[in-house]
Amino acid sequence: MVSVSVDEAMRRAIELAARGLGTTSPNPVVGCVLLDEDGQVVGEGFHAYAGGPHAEIVALAQAGRRAKNGTAVVTLEPCDHTGRTGPCSSALVQAGVGRVVIAVPDPNPVASGGAATLRAAGVRVDLGVRGEEAEAGNVAWLTSMRRGWPYVIWKYAATLDGRSAADDGTSMWITSEAARIDVHALRGTVDAVLAGVGTVLADDPRLTARNLRDGSLAIRQPLRVVVDSSGRTPADARVRDGAARTWIATADEVGAGPDGRVDLPALLAALHQRGVRAVLLEGGPRLAGAFLAAGLVDKIVGYVAPRLLGAGPTALVDAGVTTIAEAIDLEFVDVTQIGPDLRITALPRKREG
Ligand SMILES: NC(=O)c1ccc[n+]([C@@H]2O[C@H](COP(=O)([O-])OP(=O)(O)OC[C@H]3O[C@@H](n4cnc5c(N)ncnc54)[C@H](OP(=O)(O)O)[C@@H]3O)[C@@H](O)[C@H]2O)c1
Repeated sequence: MVSVSVDEAMRRAIELAARGLGTTSPNPVVGCVLLDEDGQVVGEGFHAYAGGPHAEIVALAQAGRRAKNGTAVVTLEPCDHTGRTGPCSSALVQAGVGRVVIAVPDPNPVASGGAATLRAAGVRVDLGVRGEEAEAGNVAWLTSMRRGWPYVIWKYAATLDGRSAADDGTSMWITSEAARIDVHALRGTVDAVLAGVGTVLADDPRLTARNLRDGSLAIRQPLRVVVDSSGRTPADARVRDGAARTWIATADEVGAGPDGRVDLPALLAALHQRGVRAVLLEGGPRLAGAFLAAGLVDKIVGYVAPRLLGAGPTALVDAGVTTIAEAIDLEFVDVTQIGPDLRITALPRKREG
């Protein structure tokens, strides 16, 4: 067997971690590769679902005795606490692992401390290998744990001239089936999908993650959240069907902002309390504007169709910008063609001051 470097092993561990995206919440995605004394891979694992075995435990089980004096290469600092499963730091010590290489330290105060426990037991610990790459693979979880509210992705669909509906209000469909299939895949990677009551009243969306061809539901459904200050969501709205859990978030329950509407930071804090780490904000334009104006959007995914309407509502309304100097500046980080449409991913630039 060929031996692999720690750097190559970390690349593989990051790949493995990504297999858990969308199913591990409220836990992070984690991948682990175990090398024996000669640098040969003797175990691989990833965390697949909350409550299931951690990546290190899966890799240790595969390696058995070959883990002794070996190196565990892991994308996140091994946990040091007993939750639904035991501490990974102790399991690594018990298996006789000689070195642990970690990409990113654990920001979660409840679970961190694994590196210190390992060092105290005489295990060599190295931190920071492929740290940026591992950080990017776990960005939603890491961001939400560091600051105490979920990572927010605003997704919208629009024509090339930025319209989200025609002048007469018709909007189905602006983008292609391929783009809509992509949106359903995106829904499958988050813990909650948010929409304003305006969208519910106008479009009566289901907000489920499903197979668009046969309508079947994905096994794991994000929580559906309607942001609805005074509880105007109709009793027979599709979001109230039994297909997934739904929360009609009213100002009475969450708290009201200065305009009397649902207080958005309080809403995000409440979602974090419920274990939500990644949110897909699906609109509409007014709610998206309020999130952007408050600086609460972490990532934007725009599906842009090669069509023009020339009139009709725009994809974004009232984002707190009245003059060009106040424009919300973005950085495009990805442009991918999906069928005839473009999927443009952008990150808001940090504002000065
Ligand atoms: N192209 C797209 O990607 C896309 C996506 C979604 C929707 N749409 C379109 O958007 C249209 C609906 O637009 P919309 O702007 O009326 O709907 P919206 O943004 O979904 O909902 C706006 C409503 O959300 C409620 N809300 C609660 N808290 C809020 C807060 N803090 N800030 C702002 N709003 C808050 C407000 O009603 P209360 O004050 O009663 O709470 C507000 O009127 C539909 O025609 C739909 O087709 C397009």
